[in-house]
Amino acid sequence: MAKGTKTKTVLITGASSGIGRALAIEYARRGAHVVVTARREAELVEVCKEIEGAGGRADHLVCDVADPEAAHGIAKRGEEILGSLDMIVANAGVGAPAHASRLSLEDVVRTIDVNVRGAMATLMGAIPIMLGQKRGHLVGVSSLAGRRALPGSSDYSASKAALSVFIEGLRLDLARAGIDVTDVQPGFVATPMTAKNDFQMPFLWDAEKAARYVADRLERAPGLVAFPPPLRFLTRLSQLLPFSVHALATRTAARGSPKRTG
Ligand SMILES: NC(=O)c1ccc[n+]([C@@H]2O[C@H](COP(=O)([O-])OP(=O)(O)OC[C@H]3O[C@@H](n4cnc5c(N)ncnc54)[C@H](OP(=O)(O)O)[C@@H]3O)[C@@H](O)[C@H]2O)c1
Repeated sequence: MAKGTKTKTVLITGASSGIGRALAIEYARRGAHVVVTARREAELVEVCKEIEGAGGRADHLVCDVADPEAAHGIAKRGEEILGSLDMIVANAGVGAPAHASRLSLEDVVRTIDVNVRGAMATLMGAIPIMLGQKRGHLVGVSSLAGRRALPGSSDYSASKAALSVFIEGLRLDLARAGIDVTDVQPGFVATPMTAKNDFQMPFLWDAEKAARYVADRLERAPGLVAFPPPLRFLTRLSQLLPFSVHALATRTAARGSPKRTG
């Protein structure tokens, strides 16, 4: 039997695929009314059908978070459907490995627009609602890659580092207002985003396992949910290393990778 949740109403961005989709299904299974949002409406409709087919409650809203006004307004639109907003998960994100010599300005701007501006605007739109309710849970999905850059991830790692610090700032400011704030930092999860990776992904989890882990941890509203534990440990360790050792370790890992093709 599925676990219950104290979260009765939740809006999740980037819920048309991957982690966001799995998290929406997991919350609905635990009894929450879920609003799923993303750009691709057909995929959102499919998620809602799957949830409703299993006896859950779901609605969808189309939203491009690269439009800051749209991202900022999504919490209000969700609250109008849900009647309250116990939790918002700013999960929508983009990322593709790109060596520094092949970075395109267009891709870097998109990474910042979606992962930083979009996620910040999404969470900001929920703050007045949650202050009015005197409760709520703001959740941002950053990445373990935001703690230390990896080869080919300069813009992605930078975007996630920015989001993590923003989330920490919200936590500092809102701690006394009864609003919980959590930074979710996944390692490698098998989703359409990582399907493009041509290198070995250590400790790869499937999206369903990641969703269960995240939903379990979010019940206690910690400041940080980082997983999988072995990669969280290695990432923490790497933060203590000087750049030269970190660079050598990442080069060695890449050379030893059977999946790397380029
Ligand atoms: N998979 C991993 O290993 C991993 C690791 C660390 C962190 N993360 C983070 O986890 C989050 C989810 O990623 P994922 O792996 O599940 O990738 P995914 O399957 O590609 O899902 C990304 C989601 O974001 C949505 N999205 C992208 N651009 C958007 C935009 N402009 N406006 C609104 N929605 C947008 C996509 O929906 P539409 O295309 O329909 O808009 C999709 O639902 C991301 O923030 C990612 O950075 C993932």
